[in-house]
Amino acid sequence: MKPIQSYNPLVGRDVLSIADFTKDEISAVLAQAARFESRLMQDRWPLQLLSGRICATVFYEPSTRTRLSFESAMHRLGGSVISVADALQSSSAVKGETIYDSARMIECYADVIVQRHPAVGSAHDMADASSVPVINAGDGTGEHPSQAMLDLFTIEHERGSLEGLTVAMVGDLKNGRTVHSLSQALAMWGAELVLVSPPPLSMPEDVLDDLSARGVRFTQTQDLCEGLARADVAYITRVQKERFEDPADYLRFKGLYVIDAQTVRAAKEGMIVMHPLPRVDEIARDVDDLPNAAYFRQARYAVFVRMALLAMVLGAV
Ligand code: NCD
Repeated sequence: MKPIQSYNPLVGRDVLSIADFTKDEISAVLAQAARFESRLMQDRWPLQLLSGRICATVFYEPSTRTRLSFESAMHRLGGSVISVADALQSSSAVKGETIYDSARMIECYADVIVQRHPAVGSAHDMADASSVPVINAGDGTGEHPSQAMLDLFTIEHERGSLEGLTVAMVGDLKNGRTVHSLSQALAMWGAELVLVSPPPLSMPEDVLDDLSARGVRFTQTQDLCEGLARADVAYITRVQKERFEDPADYLRFKGLYVIDAQTVRAAKEGMIVMHPLPRVDEIARDVDDLPNAAYFRQARYAVFVRMALLAMVLGAV
């Protein structure tokens, strides 16, 4: 067993945007996640690092993986979870309670808050009002920083390194928050990005400006084959149905890009296929059996990375 890490730059901090963290700080999270993974391999559960601590998961938008993996992570660390799974329906938000008031109340019940909300900036609002750390589990079309960290963990594990990679991001890059966070994270490792989307769903200008300012090499195309030609990693996303005002617009783009086993075989050897999930129809089932398909392993890695985040912000490592 490796010694418990001493470098923990996250104590007491919020996790709102990937840009709030340096490469060294993110690397510390990934290293801690790897240590937790090795504990699992040795079947040494549960850890009691967060015994007596409480995490509140407050989700105003649907979630399966993110909420369950945060809750699993907290339990794996010996902590407890209180949860509002359908906060827009079942919490006092329905009675008109503001995020500010929710924060002032939840901080009395929990040591850390994991929030998902449809409004961009809502995690910052929660954090401004809360005295306990807040983790942004998705703020509308904004960001999803813990997903970006587990995506980096996945790439590092599957490819062996984060350096020198070409990453194709495919799908709804406008509304998908995971790619907003991940592109900024990959910028720190000098990745080259190929952004594949129809023009109306292209990466937002502010994210592109940020990538340019960081000196990231990126290209934009609508052509899937061209986009995947040089890719070491294909990061596929679904068209974000819930962000379209007109269902007809959604139907226009849904199914535009579909990766199947043939697409993967025609791509660069060893290219891994990732997806934050849920998938709709972007990846055919015949990809699942290929060694390139990393998306279910990616969902598993989520627990280790979220364990690392929880243990680090709560100062337990
Ligand atoms: C993503 C999200 O909620 O942004 N899902 C997730 O957290 N794994 C991606 C998506 O919903 O398409």
